[in-house]
Amino acid sequence: MKILATRRLPGEAWDDLGDVEVGALEPRSDVDVLIVANESVDLDRFPALRLVANYGVGYDQVDVEACRRRGVAVTNTPGVLDAAVADLTLGLILAARRRIVDGDAIVRRGEWGARWSEGPFLGREVTGATLGIVGFGRIGRAVARRAEGFDLQVIYTRETPLDELLAAADIVTVHVPLRADTEGLISRERLALLRDGATFVNTARGAVVDEDALVDELASGRITAGLDVFVHEPHVPERLRGLPNVVLTPHIASATVETRAAMTRVVVDNVLAYGRGEPLPNPV
Ligand code: DGY
Repeated sequence: MKILATRRLPGEAWDDLGDVEVGALEPRSDVDVLIVANESVDLDRFPALRLVANYGVGYDQVDVEACRRRGVAVTNTPGVLDAAVADLTLGLILAARRRIVDGDAIVRRGEWGARWSEGPFLGREVTGATLGIVGFGRIGRAVARRAEGFDLQVIYTRETPLDELLAAADIVTVHVPLRADTEGLISRERLALLRDGATFVNTARGAVVDEDALVDELASGRITAGLDVFVHEPHVPERLRGLPNVVLTPHIASATVETRAAMTRVVVDNVLAYGRGEPLPNPV
């Protein structure tokens, strides 16, 4: 079995794969298995391909239907990253509402003394706020469990209609996969439903939200945000980077040593199962 990976994945499980070539997705007629991490795959370049093992739970960059037509299986890494993504979600909520990044910058610039108790320090309460969770799958539920510790009042889209949720929540966090039916789900009209002072958090996929509309809403100063994902990563719109009321992270929700090693284990188990002709543990 010829395996090509776009990068060496972290963690001990990697060595169980044996011989793996690490390189770019250049056309190859000898590759059976591709290991990718957020890279899209041009199937025409790999006529012998039988498995795409995606290092991540979200596989929106892979054309699964085209793979199915060609008899190429696709696997992902569900389950093992829920805690890490939920943790970062809480981190972004806290950072955006309590102005942690602003505060850090003020201290570093030596401006603390002059601005004590003035506007730049004032955030919004987290404890007791209403948290609206859009998408109540494994990750959404992991966020809800953490929210209990902050006495947040949790509402979620399985029980509350989306528009109602957006209008009622102090904090909105998105946990849906990117699919045809979720692209642009949080539209300009829906962003306008957010309450004044609300915080919008996205650790799912950038394209679930109308990014231009979100930048406009943030530029008005009406809301705050914490964003880990963007429509055209690694590009982040300049206008967004210039705004003080948004905390920006570079798609790191699953980026802990422990979680990334666990994701590697899942990728490797899927590839090994394919090699042995066994059922794949995580087909999508
Ligand atoms: C995932 O697992 O989907 C993460 O967002 C990394 O792509």
